[in-house]
Amino acid sequence: MLTPFLKSWISGNIKETDLDSISIRGGVPLSGTIEISGAKNASLPLMAAALLSENPLTLTNLPNLSDIISMGHLLTGLGAEINFQVGKNGPCAATISAAKISGTTAPYDVVRKMRASVLVMGPLLARFGEARVSLPGGCAIGTRPVDLHLQAFEHLGAKIKLTEGYIQATALNGLRGGHVIFPMVTVGGTENVLMAACLADGETVIGNAAREPEVIDLAQCLVLMGADIRGIGTDTLRVQGVPSLREATHAVLPDRIETGSYAVAAAITGGDLTLNNGRIGLLEAAMEALRRAGAEVCETETGLRIRGGLRPIKGIDLMTEPFPGFPTDMQAQFMAMMAVAEGASMITETIFENRFMHVPELCRMGADINVHGASAIVRGVPKLSGAPVMATDLRASISLILAGLAAEGETVINRVYHLDRGYESVESKLAACGARIERLSD
Ligand code: UD1
Repeated sequence: MLTPFLKSWISGNIKETDLDSISIRGGVPLSGTIEISGAKNASLPLMAAALLSENPLTLTNLPNLSDIISMGHLLTGLGAEINFQVGKNGPCAATISAAKISGTTAPYDVVRKMRASVLVMGPLLARFGEARVSLPGGCAIGTRPVDLHLQAFEHLGAKIKLTEGYIQATALNGLRGGHVIFPMVTVGGTENVLMAACLADGETVIGNAAREPEVIDLAQCLVLMGADIRGIGTDTLRVQGVPSLREATHAVLPDRIETGSYAVAAAITGGDLTLNNGRIGLLEAAMEALRRAGAEVCETETGLRIRGGLRPIKGIDLMTEPFPGFPTDMQAQFMAMMAVAEGASMITETIFENRFMHVPELCRMGADINVHGASAIVRGVPKLSGAPVMATDLRASISLILAGLAAEGETVINRVYHLDRGYESVESKLAACGARIERLSD
């Protein structure tokens, strides 16, 4: 039987879940075990990295998400071959062979759905001397330009032109090593230039590099493929270019944001969840914040365990920062929890502008939140009440799910399309731990 993943993959159509909604009747303390999937934000650059080599790259522990299908379609559109090994719940592994590439254009239709499509630029430019990528759209969280990616490619000798909504990058004689110092930390920018530098002529030094675990995972995979990278895990990466890369197999690291989101689900419902494959070391700052708010977090043999309900949740102040600081991708989830905490908290967003779109929706559920510039003051209320709400981006969507789990009455979250991009089987994972949650398909 074809799984939904295979149907989408073979047909080339991702099921439009724009009109789906999720209904939650809150108030149940969650209890049980959730398996944490492979990280979406690591899988996407890893899939793009396959373009660097004529030899196949096998990735295991891929999550079953629509973004994985979108990246797969982007790669096959360029001429790559992908063989997914599919389990009951989705892909377990994919072997990507980019031996024969027929084009170097990432079209508007794919890039508009998934901003991470821009990650094919570095590999294409490095291996074929050209790449044409539509200017990205994606999550509606601020302007999110790619200027730093482009400046970095220019430092490696590429010429960049913007025409008809496309970025055209060329390096007809190949890229050469150079010094790139990012003026601000950029995860995607670091990944893009790191991949490109692997095949550039000579040494590239990347200063103020992002140190996120997904960047480390990518660098480790590139080393398995034969790249020469030093300084992995620090903010200075030194890459000695090599002429070509070899065949490799790499297991994608567990999703730290999925882990953190379910950890908040345990705390906000006063429940007790074990998160298999979750790793505390990938999100120390968020785990420390959970402890400060009153939850108990401990490592287990297979992952980690979070217990809420031991004491009331306390309001705490948070500021998002590049890794190892508190992740911006956990900001919305913690805000949902602070909405029902004792006392007030101030949440400051320093990575993205306009990443408070969940605030009006949380307020519709009875939260007391005021935004002043980059900070939100959250005054905890004793209870949220269920309401129809609208999901606006990926992390906003999960924060509304968390709020719904804690609220009295029914919450209906509309436009769950974003959720399907980033959270594998969210309803069944939560339902198995006692949540009263169901998907209403249109
Ligand atoms: C990645 C993650 C995303 C996460 C973010 C920050 C993926 C697929 N997505 O996004 O979930 O929230 O890191 O941890 O891995 N910027 C520029 N110019 C650029 C690039 C970035 O101004 O050329 C700005 C952005 O607008 C933003 C900040 O830099 O304000 C950080 O963005 P960046 O780290 O690049 O985020 P992404 O890689 O897009």
